[in-house]
Amino acid sequence: MAFLKPKEDTAAQVDFDHLPRHVAIIMDGNGRWAKRRGLPRTAGHAAGAETFRTIATYCKNIGLDYLTVYAFSTENWKRPLEEVSAIMGLLKKYLLESIEKMERDQIRLHFFGDLSPLPAELREMCGRTDAISQRYDGMQVNVCLNYGGRDEIVRAARAFAADCAAGKTTPEQLTEEGFSQYLYSAGVPDPDLVIRPSGEIRISNFLLWQSAYAEFYYTDVLWPDFSKEELHKALAAYQGRSRRFGGV
Ligand code: FPP
Repeated sequence: MAFLKPKEDTAAQVDFDHLPRHVAIIMDGNGRWAKRRGLPRTAGHAAGAETFRTIATYCKNIGLDYLTVYAFSTENWKRPLEEVSAIMGLLKKYLLESIEKMERDQIRLHFFGDLSPLPAELREMCGRTDAISQRYDGMQVNVCLNYGGRDEIVRAARAFAADCAAGKTTPEQLTEEGFSQYLYSAGVPDPDLVIRPSGEIRISNFLLWQSAYAEFYYTDVLWPDFSKEELHKALAAYQGRSRRFGGV
């Protein structure tokens, strides 16, 4: 007779008094999740958007300060138009709901990326969400949209060079801290933990500058199946690491 395995109490493995301040997630595996079920890829993104909502709410409830998610990269435009439109549609739906519920949910939304090529309506909604967010002080969720880590660094370098040309600063005055202020993430602490589901073990142009000393956690679970239990496992793994930041 097969024995039923007792459900693992993943929450018991987490020290909720010492959580990372900032968790970043590469929401990967939506396409494979859909394919395994014989569904179109767009159904995978819809399921992924639901997972995002569940995980973001849970992160707020347990007291994280910052959550950053990779929703659309500078390379994702290469995907079929139907898929790109579906992702934009999901974002629009999520933003509309968030604007309505922001006061109740206390989740502030902010965007990292070049929003200029996005559909005008979505761009306008991002601006509106960002502005409303300023009024609240709950957890900040950074949605990376048309975001690329290298692109972010190049833009920051250009902006710094422009400030030099305008006589506002000089190359000699530049420090790491100073350069950070030219990035989309200005004012946001670096991520402590970067999670990538779906079995891929690479950084894919995500928060290249900011993740210099982040701890990484990989799992085979596909993003739409990522649950609170999976998050507990990632948090417990993070808490088991010894962070030395280059020291001993
Ligand atoms: C990567 O999986 C996922 C994306 C490129 C899109 C992520 C978008 C969402 C979860 C929906 C909208 C987001 C919000 C914040 C509401 P993949 O398609 O590369 O999966 P695969 O590697 O299995 O093909």
